[in-house]
Amino acid sequence: MIELAGLTKRYGEKVAVDRLTFTVRPGIVTGFLGPNGAGKSTTMRMLLGLDHPTAGDVRIDGLHYDQLKDPMTYIGALLDAKAMHGGRSAFNHLLCLAQSNGIPRARVHEVLDTVGLTAVAGKKAKGFSLGMGQRLGIAGALLGDPQILMFDEPVNGLDPEGIHWIRNLMKGLAAQGRTVFVSSHLMSEMALTADHLVVIGQGRLLADTSMADFIRANSRSYVRLRSPQQERLRDVLHEAGITVVEAGNGTLEVDGVGADRLGELAAGAGLVLHELSPQQASLEEAFMQLTAESVEYHAHSDPASSPPGAGPGAPSGGVSGPAPGWGEQWNQQQARKNEGA
Ligand SMILES: Nc1ncnc2c1ncn2[C@@H]1O[C@H](COP(=O)(O)OP(=O)(O)OP(=O)(O)O)[C@@H](O)[C@H]1O
Ligand SMILES: [Mg+2]
Repeated sequence: MIELAGLTKRYGEKVAVDRLTFTVRPGIVTGFLGPNGAGKSTTMRMLLGLDHPTAGDVRIDGLHYDQLKDPMTYIGALLDAKAMHGGRSAFNHLLCLAQSNGIPRARVHEVLDTVGLTAVAGKKAKGFSLGMGQRLGIAGALLGDPQILMFDEPVNGLDPEGIHWIRNLMKGLAAQGRTVFVSSHLMSEMALTADHLVVIGQGRLLADTSMADFIRANSRSYVRLRSPQQERLRDVLHEAGITVVEAGNGTLEVDGVGADRLGELAAGAGLVLHELSPQQASLEEAFMQLTAESVEYHAHSDPASSPPGAGPGAPSGGVSGPAPGWGEQWNQQQARKNEGA
């Protein structure tokens, strides 16, 4: 179990982590989501005692990281996979880690087997591909057979096979009753992996919810309609007791009524439809709405106006400039839903 209480980190004026309070529980995969620069890595570093909190507290099974005896046997972490490979072989890299943490040599063979690197154990890690490096990093995290595992963006840059492997590994570790805490900026990836979601933006907690609840609250399905006789269409639908939302660009949106019925109502009134299409809002959209206000680096269509660091690849949240204020709208929407529930 990992417990954060008012955890805060400031770098000068910049508040990287802002009063985060939440608990990461055993037996499930907890996804830690937020756009680039949200404070995910900073939070994880504080957990491992690599950064000191400006305020607040974070505990692992009730203790601070530096109070843990043989910390690798409590918590295993993959932070920056690129950071660690030297000229040592994969086996020797793990053996060094094992020896300095009182872990038996046999365990090195076990974890190499778990991550599928046995065949290349004697090869120098610096020649490893990104995927192999990621596997070696995970082997290091597993070495102490810890009950808590933490992975910072483990699927970054991996091919589909590698992503699939990591996803199953995390689920398997949680199924063994371990605490699995994994960060990502991709909602679509988390939807397939995590049981619970903690979402942050600009260091602040935006959501702490089960994945099932998040999906239920956000898989909005609706029907989009366009008609050259929009006014008439609206009246006809109103008369049938149907709530219509004007969505701009001459389109109407209707929740909770099937396209068949809407089409029949329009036909019954002799109205022409240019569009009648069922729509499904994706979780990625819900996530982007939730975090839109707190995205630091929006992509701009005018390259000259891009903020520093927002070149190609930088805003990998893939946010193509949703209007600020969506996060607020999302919160209000959620509040209304909760009131209605
Ligand atoms: N050592 C540091 N000095 C100053 N500012 C920092 C430092 N480390 C992080 N920051 C700032 O703190 C904020 C949070 O950064 P962090 O790396 O934790 O975000 P992140 O959620 O991990 O982002 P990403 O998805 O890009 O990995 C950013 O604005 C970053 O620029
Ligand atoms: Mg990060």
